[in-house]
Amino acid sequence: MSGSELLDRRLVVVTGKGGVGKSTVSAALAMLAARRGKRVLVAEVDARERVAPMLGGRPSGPVIREVLPGISTVDVDPRHALEEYALMVVKVRAIYQAVFENRVVRFFLRAVPSLAETLMLGKILHEARSETSGRPRWDLVVVDAPATGHAVQLLGVPRALLATVPGGPLRRDAEWMQALLSDPVRTAIALVSLPEEMPVTETAELDARIGKELSLPRGPVFLNAMPRELYTEGERERLRAVLDAPPPLGPAARAAVLQAEQRVRASAQATRLRELVGRPLIPLPLLAFDRWGRRAVERIADAMEGQV
Ligand SMILES: Nc1ncnc2c1ncn2[C@@H]1O[C@H](COP(=O)(O)OP(=O)(O)O)[C@@H](O)[C@H]1O
Ligand SMILES: [Mg+2]
Repeated sequence: MSGSELLDRRLVVVTGKGGVGKSTVSAALAMLAARRGKRVLVAEVDARERVAPMLGGRPSGPVIREVLPGISTVDVDPRHALEEYALMVVKVRAIYQAVFENRVVRFFLRAVPSLAETLMLGKILHEARSETSGRPRWDLVVVDAPATGHAVQLLGVPRALLATVPGGPLRRDAEWMQALLSDPVRTAIALVSLPEEMPVTETAELDARIGKELSLPRGPVFLNAMPRELYTEGERERLRAVLDAPPPLGPAARAAVLQAEQRVRASAQATRLRELVGRPLIPLPLLAFDRWGRRAVERIADAMEGQV
């Protein structure tokens, strides 16, 4: 798939190893889509509600709220999803509170582990296909999904249900959920990695699992925090020649050589990842910001411009 179609999807799921920049990429994709006039929802799954603050707003909580023109966010957490579901079944909040006090909710979440995932995914996918007066409520739903293993569990829910539930409303839900998730026209699973050994290995494994184990449409791989190319090979040679010069030249040259080597190592990992996943990567720059907020996300969105 070429990156240029990514934002024409209805649903983009962003996942990868912990801390690689999933929330940043989710926020930047939303910003880019909003710049193109799309109405976007970012759904954070069981996360620390980082996306709304990254866009300059308050943490969203469980109710959908617009944080920037065209961009709304919501935090989808398992307890709230279960409560909503139980309320739908029991209808009256007073009865719900009497019957489902927290202890019971906690018990359910432990006893039926994929119940929480089912409800969370159901809620997100419901948003992705919901319509108001004949047109889609959202042009794009971006899911800031959990890290690797938990994401596979979440995305595997409809498949697991189809394999175990013979009929009834739950099976019908699983059928439309799987149809939406596995449709390459409407959905893409985007991965985020870093140009380092462990994240590259984990990204390649996750990419293979999404394709082979889950049969879901694989989208682009973002290579986040790529250091800039600061020196040519000739300049690196000249820096190495003055490493032992007296201060300030020697120490400055040593710092520059360290930076240059970081870029060389990152490039090697980028090549490794590109070969492992068998398709081009979308590099995003390593940025220096004291506060990781809206300005940083804007810079990442700028870097994505023309690549997605
Ligand atoms: N391109 C980048 N350049 C520099 N630092 C980054 C970059 N992307 C992310 N970070 C840093 O990494 C932190 C984690 O990013 P985040 O998007 O929250 O990751 P995740 O959602 O995968 O846990 C950010 O708060 C920021 O400090
Ligand atoms: Mg995050």
